Amino acid sequence: MSIYEDYNKASRLYDNQRVAVGADVMAAMLQFYSGKPLEVLKILDAGCGTGNYAKAFIEMGAKQITLLDASSKMLDKARSKLKECKEKGMIAGIIEAKMPPMPFPDDTFDAVMFNVVLNHLDRNDNTFPNSVATLKETVRILRPESLIIISAMPDTVLTRVTWFTQLNMDLTNRFVEAVVPTLEQCEQMFHDAGITCIQKLNILGSDVFKNYYNLDGPLDEEWRGTNAYWSFATEEEIGVVEKKVKDLKARGEYEKWVKEHDHSGDTGILTIFFCKKNLSKPRSN
Ligand SMILES: C[S@@+](CC[C@H](N)C(=O)[O-])C[C@H]1O[C@@H](n2cnc3c(N)ncnc32)[C@H](O)[C@@H]1O
Repeated sequence: MSIYEDYNKASRLYDNQRVAVGADVMAAMLQFYSGKPLEVLKILDAGCGTGNYAKAFIEMGAKQITLLDASSKMLDKARSKLKECKEKGMIAGIIEAKMPPMPFPDDTFDAVMFNVVLNHLDRNDNTFPNSVATLKETVRILRPESLIIISAMPDTVLTRVTWFTQLNMDLTNRFVEAVVPTLEQCEQMFHDAGITCIQKLNILGSDVFKNYYNLDGPLDEEWRGTNAYWSFATEEEIGVVEKKVKDLKARGEYEKWVKEHDHSGDTGILTIFFCKKNLSKPRSN
């Protein structure tokens, strides 16, 4: 389970907000690096949530997707969303499991993707042991010449790019410090797990969130309920956010403030890492 978000609860509203942004780029990269069409690739969507990325991959031609998540309710949503695909045999399995470990034999998949998942595995430990262990497991279950796709919202996005995370910087700094690896820490994590990042790109814009520009969102519990950042906040920290929004609104300065603090169009919100496993074995601890 995520160490700070109750995804069984969040599953109810998750799809109101989230979109499978970058799935097209991921599919293209996968085919480019493997030299094979999507149809023949065995893909694991690890931390699949409600199955948005799996669905996008199937719509692009994937025929052998396995879904795994720790939340039974997120998986229920995925099951109903992908019912027809499952009946047509495009889903190899839908598995409830908490990573690490990963419940598959060695050399099973051609690709494993983690979309906004790894930041849910560790808290207050900047060696990120669960993420490293999960990536080591990924190395084990991947065939040679396979691809690992990891998407994440890096620390700098939270501190400088998304407008709503700048409403309470004490909260954001606490969140980042506890659960969000820096780019350098990601590189270290990859090194420790025995994988190498071969491509890294940012998706410009805020499309990963459907209601990103709902300026009243920070005052709305339902809007906040679709982003794990808010579940990390104490009531007091939410109070600071609400007061700031109300004060800015009362002064007629809120829209201007949001424009000044939103940089999603310049740098993007989502970073995607494309990694390969190293030829030699990862060092043991
Ligand atoms: C932000 S959601 C991302 C869902 C999906 N990948 C997407 O992009 O729409 C994070 C997901 O990771 C799952 N998760 C968190 N910790 C996990 C763990 N230790 N093992 C398996 N899944 C986990 C949660 O249940 C949740 O569905």
